[in-house]
Amino acid sequence: MSAYVQELKGTAQAMVAKGKGILAMDESNGTCNKRFEKLGIPATQEYRQAYRQLILTTPGLSEYISGPILYDETIRQNTQEGVPFLKVIADAGMIPGIKVDTGAKDLAGHAGEKVTEGLDGLRDRIAEYYQMGARFAKWRAVITIGSTIPSRACIEANAHALARYAALCQEGGLVPIVEPEVLIDGDHTLEHCWHVTDAALHEVFNQLHTQNVAYDQMILKPSMVIPGKACAQQASVGAVAEATISCLLKNVPASVAGIAFLSGGQSMEQSSAHLSAMNSLFGSQCPWPVTFSYARAIQQPALDHWAGDASRVDEAQKRLLTRAQYNSAASVGEYSSDMEKAMAIA
Ligand code: 13P
Repeated sequence: MSAYVQELKGTAQAMVAKGKGILAMDESNGTCNKRFEKLGIPATQEYRQAYRQLILTTPGLSEYISGPILYDETIRQNTQEGVPFLKVIADAGMIPGIKVDTGAKDLAGHAGEKVTEGLDGLRDRIAEYYQMGARFAKWRAVITIGSTIPSRACIEANAHALARYAALCQEGGLVPIVEPEVLIDGDHTLEHCWHVTDAALHEVFNQLHTQNVAYDQMILKPSMVIPGKACAQQASVGAVAEATISCLLKNVPASVAGIAFLSGGQSMEQSSAHLSAMNSLFGSQCPWPVTFSYARAIQQPALDHWAGDASRVDEAQKRLLTRAQYNSAASVGEYSSDMEKAMAIA
């Protein structure tokens, strides 16, 4: 049993406290640069620092966000005034988290499939991050739907890595966010997504059990059960909420500390509406808190508005806070699309 049991339980509960979610801002430099390049923002360390400072110094952020997930570059950075980002986060009453995987790489022998790397040396990296002040971690596995994929090899390899990562995190005092993302890319139906998500979650919990991971000291970060972006038959908000919750109820032990969804390329409005419907329609059936751990669905309006211009920081922060607030409302089933009008007017 981990020496950190009580601390891990407390951290996990705080991460999904009522009305709060997690802010993913752990894009690798490569992903962050790609998003910058689309908006003509220079892909430099200086601009990545400025953008992460914009996010972390947003006034009032901690009202809706329990903690941000950082990237290795970011956790070591300071504000332009020289205050460590970790101090900014602690002073705001938030909990810092850290992405510890090293990315999804091609799975040998399985065209079109990925396996996430990063287990080598992970115990030492966890110890360093804990010592710096991080209290939770994230590892993202990627599962692609196609006519003949995912393979068992892909599901098992990714689930095994997630479980070994989670066990190492708990040994070292970090709450693991276990993220098996079934991608939204493709023309698959809602039903097809349900079956793939079912198989993936089943294997993830099989492997977590085998590796002795304590469910009450971890957070599951799943994708929603939703038709592929290119599927001709899109689903209603209620259908996505029902399919997603039924798949979770089938596979996720009641003792898991919380569910915090990724947005996965859904629109901002969809991400909020689906989360809200899950809570308003099915919240009473769920044994775990159901909240968000979004990146794009919180950050995008702020990034678009800022676009690298220092004079736009205040307004960009307002847009970030608004999305955090809407998703906080969604986490208690109280988001309504009428709220978007405020954003449209701004
Ligand atoms: P999105 O919400 O943009 O999918 O990102 C969440 C995340 O952390 C992916 O690993």
